[in-house]
Amino acid sequence: MNKTNKIRVLGIVGSARSGGNTETLVDEVLAGAKEAGAEIKKIILNELNISHCQGCNACANKGECRHNDDMNKINEEMSKSSAFVYGTPIYYWGPTGIFKTFHDRLLATSRKGFIKDKKVAFVVPLGGSESVARHTIGILTDSTNYMKANIVGQIVSPGTMEIEDLKKKSGVLQRAREMGKKLVV
Ligand SMILES: Cc1cc2nc3c(=O)[nH]c(=O)nc-3n(C[C@H](O)[C@H](O)[C@H](O)COP(=O)(O)O)c2cc1C
Repeated sequence: MNKTNKIRVLGIVGSARSGGNTETLVDEVLAGAKEAGAEIKKIILNELNISHCQGCNACANKGECRHNDDMNKINEEMSKSSAFVYGTPIYYWGPTGIFKTFHDRLLATSRKGFIKDKKVAFVVPLGGSESVARHTIGILTDSTNYMKANIVGQIVSPGTMEIEDLKKKSGVLQRAREMGKKLVV
């Protein structure tokens, strides 16, 4: 909830390809959430300056991350939101580097209590077959459970290689929109 008392849903785009498949999927999930009455916000990781986690444990020992960078903006948004959609394409059987850097930094975010008990959905496009996404889905599932958030759904879109491919997959878009509604109810 935020000051307007509307549920707030935050989308995270972990692809550098502007208007690509990941962003299209995140947009569709957010559109579903908006339809269900939520306030929505989208963050494009590639537009931000997020440093790599240094593993110093300052977030555990001092309650603050040693970095002073754009992760502060994300933390602010995450603190105000009650649901998140994480989007990353598959790069070499895993998430993109920019997404992984963000994801590592969530250790500090979760220690601040900004993730626990909130809802999370994943969207993962890839050029190849669905099984190629298994490691990434495993990482997202296990880490989200570790952070004690609630997974409401996931969309893996195989055979989605070129930048406009997802826009032609009406069934996947529809599933994404429905998943967005589940982030709200
Ligand atoms: C560096 C790189 C590595 C990739 N590795 C894989 C891969 O291992 N398996 C796969 O199925 N697709 C792979 N792809 C294809 C992307 O997952 C696919 O094009 C996806 O739709 C990109 O999403 P986007 O439009 O949001 O950037 C790779 C693409 C790039 C640029």
